[in-house]
Amino acid sequence: MAQEKFYITTPIYYVNDSPHIGHAYTTLACDVIARFMRLSGIKVKFLTGTDEHGQKVEKSAATAGKSPQAFTDEVSQRFRDLCKAMNFSNDDFIRTTELRHKKSAQALWKKLEENGHIYLDKYSGWYSVRDEAFYQEAELVNGKAPTGADVEWVEEESYFFDLSKWQEKLLQYYEKNPDFIAPESRRNEVISFVKGGLKDLSISRTTFKWGIPVPGNEKHIMYVWFDALVNYLSADGFPDSTSFWPADLHVVGKDILRFHAVYWPAFLMAANLPLPKRIFANGWWTVEGEKMSKSSGNVVAPTDLINEFGLDQTRYYLLREFPFGQDGNFSHERMIAVVNSELANNVGNLVQRTLSMIQKNCNGAVPTYEGVGRDVDKKLKELVQVTKKETPELVRKKYSDCKFQEIILEIIEMSSALNAYIDSEAPWVQKKSNPQLMEAILYYLAEGIRCIAIMLQPFMPDSAEKILDLLATPQDQRTFEHLKPAYALKPGTKLPEPKAIFPRYIEKK
Ligand code: MSP
Repeated sequence: MAQEKFYITTPIYYVNDSPHIGHAYTTLACDVIARFMRLSGIKVKFLTGTDEHGQKVEKSAATAGKSPQAFTDEVSQRFRDLCKAMNFSNDDFIRTTELRHKKSAQALWKKLEENGHIYLDKYSGWYSVRDEAFYQEAELVNGKAPTGADVEWVEEESYFFDLSKWQEKLLQYYEKNPDFIAPESRRNEVISFVKGGLKDLSISRTTFKWGIPVPGNEKHIMYVWFDALVNYLSADGFPDSTSFWPADLHVVGKDILRFHAVYWPAFLMAANLPLPKRIFANGWWTVEGEKMSKSSGNVVAPTDLINEFGLDQTRYYLLREFPFGQDGNFSHERMIAVVNSELANNVGNLVQRTLSMIQKNCNGAVPTYEGVGRDVDKKLKELVQVTKKETPELVRKKYSDCKFQEIILEIIEMSSALNAYIDSEAPWVQKKSNPQLMEAILYYLAEGIRCIAIMLQPFMPDSAEKILDLLATPQDQRTFEHLKPAYALKPGTKLPEPKAIFPRYIEKK
């Protein structure tokens, strides 16, 4: 049965810092899936937001000389601005300092308490503020967290969640639901972590104040990860009524998979709530081969790329460069090469050549493919069919599996094939000798472009829209359903003056 609802989430971002391409990347992936699902007629909730409590944010506010609230208001706004700048289509933006979230986090806490999964005790162990994570002695490497972050010794009264009791249930769940954690290699890491044994989890702190009070004992504030994970429920109206939960997909960075694939499902099981259907972990960006960090001064801001290369070029490059799930590297030179060879010289050139030939030789209207003496269009028809050989189910699976690079390269391959076809058929040569043939060639090229533009919409919404406008495609015929031949271009339709879509990038000296 076709699924009509889809709930997709990004991690919520710590407001200790300005957004960089690593942050934009996960949200972009979710945006592309959300757009694809909507274009497939599915009702979507796409959520992103900011994670505003905890010691790390409190410290950053103090360093900035601001109150935590003023500081989080300011930095959270930068993430909202990023959504706009990147043309993200999120339906909601949750902030953990909102009342709706606080209520929801306290409701989940109470539920776990009622169900007997929370108890008061003492915590003593290592804590890393940068990671907002507890570490066991055995996990430390040269006195630091395995991530390289500094740790401090913490001894305080704390509430605990009985995580150790969930080990077997989690393992059974992973076993029964092989798609729950992706990619496969990450799934294996999680399984071996859980097999290694789970300790009860400290879920409250008393040594600072910037957090959500524990219901019934306000001396304690909730551990920031307990608070943060609940955002996926609070944005859907929990505990009153939820309309989208369980989430279909949580996309998260590889560094925070453990919180999502171990702690979160355990909390949900303990509260008798349904589990998300899938958690997909993405890899990390390095920049020109180096780890991206403020101290190295090599942080790439998405807005800088947008200003330099254009918005859709930035969206395209980030998902095209390497397979989602793996680590990858940002290189300025590579970005120029990709933008020029695949967007300007390939897709852009195809659109430009075809539409200006139509404008000049076919009275600026969609040409006709009728009455051609030979079966010229067979090959082209097949090329256009490339898009249609894949069933909607298969395409949907590729999106759900986050195979962005593969999807993009298939579209580019089709564009290359169409460009090669122009060269081999040389429609301008047919102009005098066989004008009908010329029209048929141009018709199928234009129809191929229509399919390409429909398929590019999730990745490059503005540019795809411009191309569809140039083809006078009706606004209500732009979904994946409209790839079907029944919605092919209608000969005789008047077309506007062609405009360049993807300019060539010329490096400024
Ligand atoms: N606040 C937590 C998440 C809570 S979700 C309930 C958090 N925030 S974060 O701002 O530190 O990181 C947010 C996301 O950005 C993570 O998924 C992380 O993997 C991602 N990235 C941070 N740097 C990155 C790169 N260099 N490359 C790709 N993604 C990166 O963790």
